[in-house]
Amino acid sequence: MEPFELSDLMIGTATAAIQIEGGDKNNNWYDYATLPGKIKDGSSPLRSTDHWNRWEEDTALMAELGLQTYRMGLEWSRIEPKPGEFDNAAIQHYRAEIQAILAADIVPLVTLHHFTNPSWFQGLGEWTAPESVDIWLRFVRKVVTELGDLVTDWVTINEPNVYATLCHLFKEGPPGRVSWQNLRLVLRHMAIAHVRAYRLIHELQQNPQVGFAHHARVFTPRNQNNPLQKIMSAVDEKLFQDVITDAALGGVWSPLLGRRPADISAGTYYDYLGLNYYSRSAVTGINDGTLPGRPINDLGWDIYPEGIVEVAKNLSERYPAPIWITENGTADNGNPVTGELEVFRPRFILEHLKEIADSGLDFKRYYHWCFVDNWEWSEGEIPRFGLVHNDYETQTRTVKPSGQMISEIIAQGGVSTELIEKYLGPEYPNYA
Ligand code: BGC
Repeated sequence: MEPFELSDLMIGTATAAIQIEGGDKNNNWYDYATLPGKIKDGSSPLRSTDHWNRWEEDTALMAELGLQTYRMGLEWSRIEPKPGEFDNAAIQHYRAEIQAILAADIVPLVTLHHFTNPSWFQGLGEWTAPESVDIWLRFVRKVVTELGDLVTDWVTINEPNVYATLCHLFKEGPPGRVSWQNLRLVLRHMAIAHVRAYRLIHELQQNPQVGFAHHARVFTPRNQNNPLQKIMSAVDEKLFQDVITDAALGGVWSPLLGRRPADISAGTYYDYLGLNYYSRSAVTGINDGTLPGRPINDLGWDIYPEGIVEVAKNLSERYPAPIWITENGTADNGNPVTGELEVFRPRFILEHLKEIADSGLDFKRYYHWCFVDNWEWSEGEIPRFGLVHNDYETQTRTVKPSGQMISEIIAQGGVSTELIEKYLGPEYPNYA
């Protein structure tokens, strides 16, 4: 690998509230995790990394590593534990945390919805319910009013396409039932919610930066010579990516989403392009897999660094804007035999950053998923995505080589030959 510059890229980490905070029983994922067999290791988000009590320590560690920006979530069920009743103590808690982040010279990017709902909202039928949009916008108005003096950069909704499919197709999240009708309703309501939140935040603040975090994958036929797989790959891409991006970013409505509401017309509903990029899918039908022979991470996902540019190019040609990689990361659980905390994450990061640096595209921010190892939804505490290791029993944080490396990359404004020699390491250990 040749050295490269990254002086124009702001670098930080991304998290979601429930995956790190612990202690909240008012949300749908807590409820879901109490059902037998739903979480692979039987863990609950009640523990996770106890960030709710350790945010000062975690913020100090981010500052020590020199991170430039931090994407964090607000747990809606803490702020609005009952419909229309806001908990001021929870809001003040987040205010204090964001003030500490700002004092550490770290730019906050705040996510307003990241997979979790208050239990009462889930009970109403969550995002399938026609009133869901207005209910959530009431929360958005409250939060932006309360935090708007501290925060100007917002992610409205994290990965509507993943939320909809996880919960209404793949049975990996609440309510865990298959319903195409509900899947479509969720996408419809989330697209409307994003557009209206975009407008609302622009009404409430001067010059905010508002977008949503879109989960973008590369789709490829598993067998390049199979015409059916070729068609399915294009269909999957269209359904999974284009329906939601066209509606939420451009107000362009697919018939799959039902009728376009009268207040939404074709327009520009984003200030940056938020992309979460992890992997590539080898398509055979509705399910996907991994191309044989490819390097894979500890969840079996294809490690395909070129994809970060492919998805960004694809989307930014249709929706031009500064590109923020709102998530990118990998499950690397380390080596239990040697005791190494990670094996290939430094290589993964260097290869993705190199693609960004060489692309000529307008990449402005990169958020690594995630800071401290966290609770990975139905996968529980098993996959480790962090730059910092967490011992869940003692809640002890230990910076991994990749955390140290990111710190040096930020300090140098790029990647030098010495840094490559120090961190790149051997080839990936596992292949599909
Ligand atoms: C989600 C994160 C999740 C990550 C890794 C993304 O799709 O936004 O919440 O932890 O993937 O699985």
